Amino acid sequence: MDLYEYQGRDLFEKHGLPVLDGGVATTPTEARAIAERLGERVVIKAQVKVGGRGKAGGVKLAEGADEAQARATDILGMDIKGHTVHKVMVTVTADIAEEYYFSYLLDRANRTFLCIASVAGGMDIEAVAEETPEKVAKITIDANKGVDETTAREIVTAAQFPADVADQIVVIAQDLWKAFVAEDATLVEVNPLAKTGEGKVLCLDAKVTFDENADFRQSSHAALVDQAQVDPLEQRAKEKDLNYVKLDGEVGIIGNGAGLVMSTLDVVAYAGEDLGGGVKPANFLDIGGGASAEVMANGLEIVLSDPAVKSVFVNVFGGITACDAVANGIVQALELLHQRGEDIDKPLVVRLDGNNAEAGRAILDAAANPLVQRVDTMDGAARRAAELAAAR
Ligand SMILES: Nc1ncnc2c1ncn2[C@@H]1O[C@H](COP(=O)(O)OP(=O)(O)O)[C@@H](O)[C@H]1O
Ligand SMILES: [Mg+2]
Repeated sequence: MDLYEYQGRDLFEKHGLPVLDGGVATTPTEARAIAERLGERVVIKAQVKVGGRGKAGGVKLAEGADEAQARATDILGMDIKGHTVHKVMVTVTADIAEEYYFSYLLDRANRTFLCIASVAGGMDIEAVAEETPEKVAKITIDANKGVDETTAREIVTAAQFPADVADQIVVIAQDLWKAFVAEDATLVEVNPLAKTGEGKVLCLDAKVTFDENADFRQSSHAALVDQAQVDPLEQRAKEKDLNYVKLDGEVGIIGNGAGLVMSTLDVVAYAGEDLGGGVKPANFLDIGGGASAEVMANGLEIVLSDPAVKSVFVNVFGGITACDAVANGIVQALELLHQRGEDIDKPLVVRLDGNNAEAGRAILDAAANPLVQRVDTMDGAARRAAELAAAR
């Protein structure tokens, strides 16, 4: 999960990092009130979960409350790279002398953590990294050691931070690492990490991504979720412990095992292309290995309640779970949904293969549910599901 800048700023403050006073507003009048509290010069910043707000005109200086209100009026409702601005942060203006870049992130490719730091930070950091990569230091962080003072000094040296800010950055590097670990983050990025005219180093922007796998031990993170941005189907799936991702097609997908579901998305997409395009997978849903009738029912309920879904492809390869158990699950799930009052009229294409496939197919045939079509190959079933969706 990504945080908004104002949430990241609060998180940094909680961990003792130097940030500026500020507040978040959803209306120009609220922005004005914050500006009045903060005093003379403020910055109005669009709160969207996308970078490059400054270049897009989403970061504006304002002298006094009137101007703060006017800039907030300009910025609220703006579209920045497809994200509508619903909130602005109003913060004190820093007298910036230099802009640095500092981040910690999980480097998946190298199975380690990484610190990226540069004295050439600010809004052009991407260009700096591309054109003058020698100005961007990358330091591997040993997960077991973390960032102690020695490592922090190594970072300062590698990134060639000026001597007059070295001690401050050594402290910031350690505190930011503590925040990164304590919050189970996969990214904390400060750009700019700024030096003021008086020589003080401040975090002027905050980008934070949490590792959702750690949600179970991060009870405070749930409150940071922006409910307005959560897909309602994904939310319901999450409540039922289902591994579901909403996509924008018409063929609902249910499978057992993430790898099988991924390849199911591919074959359905190819089948849709063969039909002249237009038909695509509507979701990812992995119901896992030992899928019970109840799990199947929950999965079917989520997939069928997506108004975009026109047909469903249930693709099961029996391994540890035998196909007859899955077939019983499907039959019972449809009964369960019927009992729950769900009005199902979307066709289901079921492909069963692997352990006890024959017995599973026989169970489906015996149930003879008019909505269920059995196709025994993955490609054939994908094609049928795509055809059914295209025909509706
Ligand atoms: N509080 C502030 N005071 C002065 N200038 C600021 C302040 N916050 C941001 N800026 C300036 O605006 C630029 C862009 O802001 P930033 O928060 O980094 O947004 P983004 O990275 O999305 O463009 C910064 O590089 C900095 O020059
Ligand atoms: Mg920035």
